[in-house]
Amino acid sequence: MPQPPGLLVRNAAQIVTGPKGPLRGRELQNIQVHPNASLYAENGTIVALGDPATVEACVQGKPEELDAAGKTVIPGFVDPHTHAVFAGSRVDEFIRKIEGATYAEIAAQGGGILSTVKATRAAGKDELQALTLTRLRTALEHGTTTMEIKSGYGLDPQTESKMLDVIAELGADQPIDLVPTFLGAHAFPPERRRSEYLLDLIRMLPEAARKARFCDVFCDAAYFTPEEAKLLLATAAEKGLLLQLHAGQFAADGGVRMGIELGAKAIAHLDFITDAEIDALAASPTAAVLLPGVSLFGGTPFPRARKILGAGGIVAIASNFNPGSCPSLSMPLMVGLACMQMKMTPAEALNAATVNAAYALGLESVGCLEPGRQADLAILDLPDYRLLPYHFGMNPVVAVIKKGRLVWRR
Ligand code: NIG
Repeated sequence: MPQPPGLLVRNAAQIVTGPKGPLRGRELQNIQVHPNASLYAENGTIVALGDPATVEACVQGKPEELDAAGKTVIPGFVDPHTHAVFAGSRVDEFIRKIEGATYAEIAAQGGGILSTVKATRAAGKDELQALTLTRLRTALEHGTTTMEIKSGYGLDPQTESKMLDVIAELGADQPIDLVPTFLGAHAFPPERRRSEYLLDLIRMLPEAARKARFCDVFCDAAYFTPEEAKLLLATAAEKGLLLQLHAGQFAADGGVRMGIELGAKAIAHLDFITDAEIDALAASPTAAVLLPGVSLFGGTPFPRARKILGAGGIVAIASNFNPGSCPSLSMPLMVGLACMQMKMTPAEALNAATVNAAYALGLESVGCLEPGRQADLAILDLPDYRLLPYHFGMNPVVAVIKKGRLVWRR
């Protein structure tokens, strides 16, 4: 069978990448900037990058060429926490929040997650798939080449399963690599008693283990307690699922320690986290996945990235794209927010959105650019990577390469 041609990205103003991860604490500053550089990939894998003459000496045959003069090449973004499969929008709640209602008040009145559950249950699989495909297209245009997606707007076996099927089918149908997560424990469905739904969830785990890579639980005030989350996650791990956790979105209530003890790959949100929990995280291999878009959208305090980094923790950032707390899937925006609001440097924020985000998902082949790794790249119409967060709220991505193939170009 003929091999696909190679791809040569020529004469970039910069090729920028973090080293192999995870990057802990101060290591998150480590970034390699190759000025006036080229990159050659073959069969989806990076063969060489750096000095253009040296790179071109590696070229076999006649590859596709891309002129990157004046542009910056970075690893494709890895978005390690999203809820991208859902139907409906919550724009009415958005307006109510502007007028003063809180997330908790809206949820108590049957809005919030449960209103998206209603819309998602009612949507056919094809409709859900089409809605999600459009979102993935937007994510790709913002430079995302790997994305985690959770179920969790079904809260019943049929709809949870439908969501995981949508993720699986879209994983095969479009360029972004998708990492599926079972989040049946996202809320309690109104038609089941608490104890009944916990049993439902345990029964859903064998199928979830066939369809998902991770199991996640929303462990927080008014959602799942640390004890409930522990039971579910421990059972999920027995079934072969890797673990994640939502904790500290509304309160610091013990979830973080439990997640670390169970060996969760990542714990997300952490807006409310005690100093002792920060120390425990920093002493663990668990990644702290911070979600600055939620703080921006909700007008709430941003997570204490500097404190976690100062303690030596592994920090990643994600969009947390969802219809309630962050309806944006722009990773360039998240990088900007990480710098402006969490006081991370551009190097730290870029590494948090690439190499450490890949680590949070247990992925080794993506997130950093070096020979032997997957050729997933975003090309920015900027001569210096530090301009990415500086021009916050803009999308400088002009081309995306996935597994060595040009999959989108402005
Ligand atoms: O991460 N925390 C739980 N889940 C989402 C909210 C989802 C929603 O409001 O629909 C979040 O913020």
